[in-house]
Amino acid sequence: MTKNFDKFIGRISNDNVKKIWSSVPGVKKKFFDFFYEQILNYDKPQILEFGVRDGTSTALFLDICNEKNGNLFSVDNKDYSFQFKDKKWKFILSKDTDFDIVNKEIPAQLDVIFLDTIHEAIHVSNIFYHYYNKLKVNGLFIIDDTSWLLYTKNNSEDHFYKEINNYETFKKVLEIYNNNRDKFDIHANFCDTGAIKIIKRTQDNLSESARIFSRENTIKNYIRKLFIKS
Ligand SMILES: C[S@@+](CC[C@H](N)C(=O)[O-])C[C@H]1O[C@@H](n2cnc3c(N)ncnc32)[C@H](O)[C@@H]1O
Repeated sequence: MTKNFDKFIGRISNDNVKKIWSSVPGVKKKFFDFFYEQILNYDKPQILEFGVRDGTSTALFLDICNEKNGNLFSVDNKDYSFQFKDKKWKFILSKDTDFDIVNKEIPAQLDVIFLDTIHEAIHVSNIFYHYYNKLKVNGLFIIDDTSWLLYTKNNSEDHFYKEINNYETFKKVLEIYNNNRDKFDIHANFCDTGAIKIIKRTQDNLSESARIFSRENTIKNYIRKLFIKS
């Protein structure tokens, strides 16, 4: 894995992106270690990415596309087309919710969808439900920024909105899974700001999300806690 990582770093054409990949270990853990080799198993992978900005994730997907003769389609509502010059890359200037614009530019079937735009539960859910049917069986839907740990009070990135948004997004994905457990699998990574990897298992359409009735805040649980010896 380390050997492959060093080779990947060596192939990055954009110096700023190379610097991010070399200096932020959490990004290696939540992106490279979490799904790079898994995507390398796909033949001619068709990848759709939402959110380009620094090009950190874009560089990773472009590398896979060059290794495996795939294609990367990246959507952003700001023009980041200058970040890479690569025949495997198509930049689409659009909001991720402008479905008609995006759909015209992308293949009918995708191996990987990566979402890193607005980290609010309702937005993530909207994009997930809209594009899920385009994902092939055994394809990956990756959602970035789903750990709230670093953003909690007095922690290294202490930030109210990021903590709440990431937590609500994580909970929303679990609620979707709660009513679709036979259709996809979920893997969560808590390194850095976290990511969720969803592996599609069947061709079936998704059902709506279903609330999870936790017993955490019940009288029964409070009573149980009274009897726990510290
Ligand atoms: C966190 S950055 C993406 C970082 C990138 N994935 C990386 O690894 O360097 C979020 C990006 O989403 C874009 N964005 C925000 N809202 C969007 C929307 N509704 N549709 C498309 N792009 C959006 C922003 O312009 C920004 O470039």
